[in-house]
Amino acid sequence: MPPTSVPMSSGMKIGNVTLDSPLVVAPMAGMTDTGFRRLVKRHGGCGLVVTEMVSSDGLVRGIDRTLEYAEYTEDERPVSIQIFGGDPVKMADAAQIVEGMGADIVDVNMGCPVHKIAKHNAGCSLMREPEHAAAVIGAMVKAVRIPVTVKMRAGWNDRTRNAPQLARLVEDAGAAAIAIHGRTAEQSYSGVADWQLVSEVAGALRIPVFGSGDCVEPDQIVERLAAGVSGVLVGRGVLRNPWILSQAAALAAGRVPRPVTLEDRGRFLLEYIDILLTERVEEVEGFRHVAPGAPESPLDAAGRQARGRERWVINKLRALCAWYSKGLDGGSALRVRINAAGSISELRDIVSEFFLLHNYVASEELLSSGR
Ligand SMILES: Cc1cc2nc3c(=O)[nH]c(=O)nc-3n(C[C@H](O)[C@H](O)[C@H](O)COP(=O)(O)O)c2cc1C
Repeated sequence: MPPTSVPMSSGMKIGNVTLDSPLVVAPMAGMTDTGFRRLVKRHGGCGLVVTEMVSSDGLVRGIDRTLEYAEYTEDERPVSIQIFGGDPVKMADAAQIVEGMGADIVDVNMGCPVHKIAKHNAGCSLMREPEHAAAVIGAMVKAVRIPVTVKMRAGWNDRTRNAPQLARLVEDAGAAAIAIHGRTAEQSYSGVADWQLVSEVAGALRIPVFGSGDCVEPDQIVERLAAGVSGVLVGRGVLRNPWILSQAAALAAGRVPRPVTLEDRGRFLLEYIDILLTERVEEVEGFRHVAPGAPESPLDAAGRQARGRERWVINKLRALCAWYSKGLDGGSALRVRINAAGSISELRDIVSEFFLLHNYVASEELLSSGR
């Protein structure tokens, strides 16, 4: 039975950018590439997509791999490109590159707890130096016309849950919106996200405040929306169920979400494989925004890089299926098979066999119920 409807502010604004829905695909390094984002967006309910985090240093130096992470297509708009770094001048330069790519929003990562990032005074380390973090935002706001936003955590650790203070500082420095993942850096992904803190910040700021954390079912998203935030960033829930945003949008409108069948899920994976394989080689739809300096085609005539590409696609599918298979009957056996796949054709066969050929009635019921 659908719940009572919850108002979803369609037409909400981040600076001058209008979002049709307050539901956002959260940035996820290694997962939310342009192909994945496009497929999620196609199912509806999604008001904004955020790229994987991109190094400001790599952008400024024109490193190929970094530039590829920042690519997107027209189908994904509005698009926010998330950058990380701690140097105000470099971050302002990187923001200009992002603006030059035509992105709608530039987002700053102040939440990554990974040592490799945090040790460079970037990611969640910026939360330990709030004045410096605000100076980074101030420099970026001066450098670009597109909105500058911030994604932070609740704080560095339990002794410094300073998201409320940092949020005010970056708002004063000109940030157009913020998102808070309600865990500390020290927590990483343990414990639960503190939505109470997120709601408090949302009530105290003038700019939109989005919450993030632990929304793995459509009804959880709707519940969080009702708690006073401007919107919700959904991470792992989208990896498990790319239809979750459209299901949540339906629930919020008091409608019954469209059931997702195993066949739908299989077709999603097969299409994702195709997109990953052909990316940047034969662009089939949409106009790709390539960052300055990015190579035109990663494949040579001899196909040497194609073999590298196959390996890369298999690894991408392994990473996605670690989440995507959760909650499915036979999901762990599927993971084992996908992890053992040695070629694209083997991968396609495994996916087809599991999702398209068998009649997993129990799983279909599981999915239809949104669980
Ligand atoms: C695999 C993975 C990669 C992530 N990468 C990023 C990232 O690049 N930038 C960022 O701000 N947050 C990143 N996050 C955090 C998510 O955006 C999100 O805030 C967090 O997972 C909590 O939301 P969830 O419970 O809906 O997953 C990542 C999370 C996961 C699981």
